Amino acid sequence: MYNIKAIIFDLDGVLVATSKYHYLAWKRLAQELNIEFTIEENERLKGVSRMNSLEIILEIGNITLDDDTKIELAEKKNTWYVEYISKLTPTDILPGVIDFIESVKESNLKIALGSASKNSMLILNKLNLTHYFDAIIDGTKVSRAKPDPEVFLKGAQALKVLPCQCIVFEDAQAGIDAAINAGMLSIGIGSKDILKKANLVLSGFSNIIFDKLEL
Ligand code: BG6
Ligand code: MG
Repeated sequence: MYNIKAIIFDLDGVLVATSKYHYLAWKRLAQELNIEFTIEENERLKGVSRMNSLEIILEIGNITLDDDTKIELAEKKNTWYVEYISKLTPTDILPGVIDFIESVKESNLKIALGSASKNSMLILNKLNLTHYFDAIIDGTKVSRAKPDPEVFLKGAQALKVLPCQCIVFEDAQAGIDAAINAGMLSIGIGSKDILKKANLVLSGFSNIIFDKLEL
């Protein structure tokens, strides 16, 4: 069996269903730019940094823009996104998440956040989840976006554990790739069709506790 010492959680789409708000804000921006942007294409944006997400949308629309305009557009999207998430409360935590986190704590494992989002602290505070984390690595602390393993490797380092002692929970293809690139086990939250490369895929945390996981 694996000698697991830590769990690293992605945030958006794993602990809270913020993905729809990211989609709505990008869709609104795409409409302004006359770009058709579908929910299927949105899969490519999951786990990807804000600027890389914008690049993907511009690529879909075949549009080239200068850096200043791109920064302006990314900020505009973020203003809408922050507006959408301003009403988040602990009731928005996905089903089973708190019980699962508590089962991880009971097993004496460390917990880290590994998210691309620069809004992570805002969201964790709104959800009253911050106190559960022994380390928080978010978009303000990394320079390379998933599938680069930086965010997860920094998480392991902050927790003083080896990458092979970590399990990553992720809802995005880019995130599962980042976990694999970090040499960590990964559990996908979502659909098996999309998260094929994960060691295990769950539809969510309902009725899942740490010591019953079979990897
Ligand atoms: C990830 C989301 O968690 O964070 C992406 O899955 C998002 O969709 C990225 O683009 C960056 O988020 P933010 O909040 O910094 O724009
Ligand atoms: Mg995610």
